[in-house]
Parts: sequence; C-alpha cells; structure tokens
Amino acid sequence: MDASAFLPTPPTLDRLARAAIRCTACPLYRHATQTVFGEGEPGARLMLVGEQPGDIEDHIGRPFVGPAGRLLDRALGLAGIDRDDAYLTNAVKHLKWTPRGKRRIHGKPNAGEIRACRPWLIAEIAAVKPEVIVCLGATAAQALLGSDFRVSRQRGEWIDSDLAPRVIATVHPSSLLRIRGAEEREAALQAFVADLAMAAGDEG
Ligand code: URA
Repeated sequence: MDASAFLPTPPTLDRLARAAIRCTACPLYRHATQTVFGEGEPGARLMLVGEQPGDIEDHIGRPFVGPAGRLLDRALGLAGIDRDDAYLTNAVKHLKWTPRGKRRIHGKPNAGEIRACRPWLIAEIAAVKPEVIVCLGATAAQALLGSDFRVSRQRGEWIDSDLAPRVIATVHPSSLLRIRGAEEREAALQAFVADLAMAAGDEG
C-alpha cells in the first residue's frame, strides 16, 4: 500500500498537510508522535527534501527545527538563501525509531517506507511547482532519483529529471554533524554551502 489512497482532491498544500495527519500507508505512524509535513509556500522557487523528521521535529511537528535544521539554516544563510523562500520537506513524513532503554534510536527508512510515502512528496512537488529541487542525502535521492543514484558520485551535478526544471543532490546536513575534526567539518560545510548556492543560482 502507498499513500495515494489518502490524497485529497483538489490536492492543495493545505489539504495535503491536513490529509497526511491520518496517513497509515506504512507502519511508521504507529510509533511516531505525529506526521511532519512539508513547510513553505506554493510557488517557492526552491524545494529542499530531507530524509525523515528527527526527534525534535517529531515532537514539534515541523521539518528541520532540530540540530540538523539549525545547521541547514546556517548553510542556507551562508549560501544567501532565505529559509522562508524555500519549501522544506522530507521523503518520509514519520520518524522511524525503536526504543533502547529511555532513548529513541533512529532507524533509516527502508525502500518500502520510502515508496509508501512517495505520493505525498510527488503531490507536494505538483502543488509547489519548484524551479529547483535539492535532495539532501541518500534517502531523498532514492525517493526522487531512484535506488541507483549515488550522492557520493553525483552530488553537485544537475540531474535530468521530469520532477522540476532543475534537480540536484547533495549531502544531508546531519552528515556534517557527525564529522569529528573541526577542519574537516568546516571543509564539508563549505562544500555543502557551495552546492546550495549552485542550486539557488540562476545558471543551470
Ligand atoms: N533530518 C531530516 O532529514 N529532516 C528533518 O526534518 C530533520 C532532520
């Protein structure tokens, strides 16, 4: 089963966000606090697609408001992009986690969960009609560009796609948070900022 059966008519962003609250297309809704739908205006020129809500996003109900979101905000600022001008969403709209003692251990969404959630993402793209889509990390790239796509090989390249006039993939901001060395982390941040600036630029 996928989320197609939950899509509203007409599929405006507001209606999509409301309908997604009740999505049970995959088992992840059972343990997540809530659906975290995308955020931004229809007509936003730039759409950023992440993996899934994190812990804080799951509690607050908004995408990219935790540590990875703060880093993304910083990178967007350095790239000269106003977060409010972009539409931010995730490939999977529920947090996947399992308990370990008192902690919530995040899981990576599997191919079935990504597929089940894809109709929401495709409907968001159709409603927003972005000029540029940026896949942040492997899960977003897998959802939109297929499982053969490798961010490590093809990051920062324009990808031929029917989804939007310009589509590009780069790393997920949480990968930068995992880099231990300050110098290495700074270099990775600069490379991420360069990808975002290229995505937001006029030439494609
Ligand atoms: N990571 C994501 O991929 N999305 C979020 O919303 C937060 C963290």
